[in-house]
Amino acid sequence: MSSMKKKLYIETLGCAMNVRDSEHIIAELSNKKDYELTQNLEDADLILINTCSVREKPVAKLFSEIGVFQKRGKKGAKIGVTGCTASHLGEEIIKRVPAVDFVLGARNVSKISEVVDKKHAVEISTEHDETLYEFTDYRSNPYKALVNISIGCDKQCTFCIVPATRGEEISIPSDLIIQEIRRAVEGGAKEVMLLGQNVNNYAKRFTAGSDKASSFTDLLRLVSEVEGLERIRFASPHPLHMDDEFLQEFATNPKICPQIHVPLQSGSTNLLKRMKRGYTKEWFLNRCQKIRQMVPNVVISTDIIVGFPGESEEDFEDTIDVLKKVKFEQLFSFKYSPRPHTQAAEYSNQVPSEVASRRLIELQSIHKEIQEQSMQSQVGKRVSVYFEELKSGNKVAGRTDNGRLVLVDGSEELLGKIVDVDIDRASLTTLFGKVVRQ
Ligand code: SAH
Ligand code: F3S
Repeated sequence: MSSMKKKLYIETLGCAMNVRDSEHIIAELSNKKDYELTQNLEDADLILINTCSVREKPVAKLFSEIGVFQKRGKKGAKIGVTGCTASHLGEEIIKRVPAVDFVLGARNVSKISEVVDKKHAVEISTEHDETLYEFTDYRSNPYKALVNISIGCDKQCTFCIVPATRGEEISIPSDLIIQEIRRAVEGGAKEVMLLGQNVNNYAKRFTAGSDKASSFTDLLRLVSEVEGLERIRFASPHPLHMDDEFLQEFATNPKICPQIHVPLQSGSTNLLKRMKRGYTKEWFLNRCQKIRQMVPNVVISTDIIVGFPGESEEDFEDTIDVLKKVKFEQLFSFKYSPRPHTQAAEYSNQVPSEVASRRLIELQSIHKEIQEQSMQSQVGKRVSVYFEELKSGNKVAGRTDNGRLVLVDGSEELLGKIVDVDIDRASLTTLFGKVVRQ
């Protein structure tokens, strides 16, 4: 029997925070507005695109996607734009494409059921406070739960548009966080990923005064007390706030996974200053060396921007130097993209695009060797894998505690289980192996 519910199609661009916002939107619309999710654009009564604005490329993608929606979507289907580009372009989106029905900013997710039926509604206030809002529980993957711990960002990195789209940083009360994690664990999740733009700045400002947790380290301790929860990850911490107390907790709390994202941006102290990152090359190296000493099997990932205004060959050499010293197992690297509402976009010494492209290629090729070595070093090892997704050809995918992707032959009986695997082969991104029979 076909259901009478209206159908929702949602495309999510950008970061894990957007993935979680999309989950909130799906939950709100199915509980309050009788929508159900579809994977088919052609069937949808409502088509949403949850956008990213961190670089120019995903913004361009928004407009090309709206064209596709208009062409392939059902006649009369509504189109809504949500997320960071909604926040920063607002009404302009409707002016440019009047077929867009409404625009909802990244800090206004809880208002989705209000705007969905209002033609040309625009809700993009970055003053809006969503920290006390209890969202319902839709999860795209029941085995690992994304959980927000703060909204917005108080840093003003000079390249970054996020503070303008997501607003000031406010922490979510730890009681709400713990409640949400308990429910996720009851629903089958053994793993949680704590999300914030700057997680280790947690507890600097709450809406409702004080809180049980007075730091991110405190929050980690509270979260690790949740029974049935086995793996804790978080993204992203800021290198500046990685104090020794945090490193100690990271290294010794058995539920915290030995995986950490330490966003470098640049290895040049001079450039870091102009990015307003607040740390030096030496501090960054010191933190990473300390992490490696304290957590021998740790996997460290990073973000790097090349071609930031004024980046000289020497500055770039500093970045390469840090890459070679820390040997990040995983690298997300980007060409600098000037963004509206940011200081760096006004700087006069923009780096030519060809120079930035050459640096990006060089950086990535050095990193590829590091990654290859790191993956090959896993062959022959026995690792503990949490299985979370079925893949085609009777394969099941999971992650090691330090976050490496593992594929084995198997079926759904592995899903949601943590099992030992013997690794017999590695590609650049994936480990392959056999489940150890108990
Ligand atoms: N605080 C967030 C950062 C969000 S932006 C976090 O730690 O996850 C994600 C990444 O995009 C940044 O770390 C940075 O490397 C990159 N980025 C941000 N602004 C950029 C810009 N203008 N051009 C190129 N890359 C950018
Ligand atoms: Fe952006 Fe810096 Fe915040 S990168 S999200 S302003 S920590």
